[in-house]
Amino acid sequence: MKKTVALLLFFYSVAGFAAGSGGLKLDHVNVDLSDTPSLQRGARIFVNFCLSCHSASYMRYNRMAEDLGISDEILRESLMFAADKPGELMESTMPVEDAKKWFGTAPPDLSLVSRSRGPDYIYTYMRSFYLDEGTPSGWNNTIFPNVAMPHAMYEWQGNQRAIFSTDSDGNKTFERFELVKEAELSPEEYDDAMRDLTNFMVYLGEPAKLVRYRYGFWVMMFMLLLIGLTYFLKKEFWRDVH
Ligand code: HEC
Repeated sequence: MKKTVALLLFFYSVAGFAAGSGGLKLDHVNVDLSDTPSLQRGARIFVNFCLSCHSASYMRYNRMAEDLGISDEILRESLMFAADKPGELMESTMPVEDAKKWFGTAPPDLSLVSRSRGPDYIYTYMRSFYLDEGTPSGWNNTIFPNVAMPHAMYEWQGNQRAIFSTDSDGNKTFERFELVKEAELSPEEYDDAMRDLTNFMVYLGEPAKLVRYRYGFWVMMFMLLLIGLTYFLKKEFWRDVH
């Protein structure tokens, strides 16, 4: 019994570690990999705003286009800024050494970040940048203090300030955000866009999920057919017994 409990605790802590966001207050996002238009919009945001610094080097452009129902023409015209051939990997053109110099740390590859951090983390992270004169980039993030990444989507979200309350011991607690500069999108539109981006990054983390869903449907149909057949078989067998 003790062993089982210890084992359960072990798995629980490993799972918690894998989720990577222990103790953070995250906003929930509904991802839906069957929502193809959302995945396409997310892909567009990703190549426009993230790929300049980050790679997604486990993904090829043409694989993404095929999975998300994007035509070759649209792929070449509006999604391939950092590559010449559709068969190339989605790699950033920013040299790692330069990135280290500019940001102090190289932007991590984002292929698997949705799996290491979870969708809620990405969704909340992308909505939690705020102005901070004390950091080299001028930006900070409530769920990733002193993050080296500048806010890539500030034009869409607008600039926000974070309001903190301070208790008698001098501990700061985050209260809320305040928009200080007009944004291109309304807060609801921005949240929707970040949901699309998160959706796309979940796909990026496990592209085979889409294939599994397609197979899943046919497997279920097959099972239903089989249930029908076995029922008639049972009737046939028992006819002589009765
Ligand atoms: C100007 C360069 C730049 C752009 C553009 C950029 N990032 Fe980053 N990003 C960074 C750097 C640098 C880090 C490393 C931060 C650190 O370790 O402090 C980072 C880290 C991250 C992380 C990791 C956070 C964590 O907890 O490990 C995520 C997720 C992320 N970026 C998502 C994005 C997304 C999504 C976009 C596009 C909307 C984007 N980034 C655009 C530079 C960039």
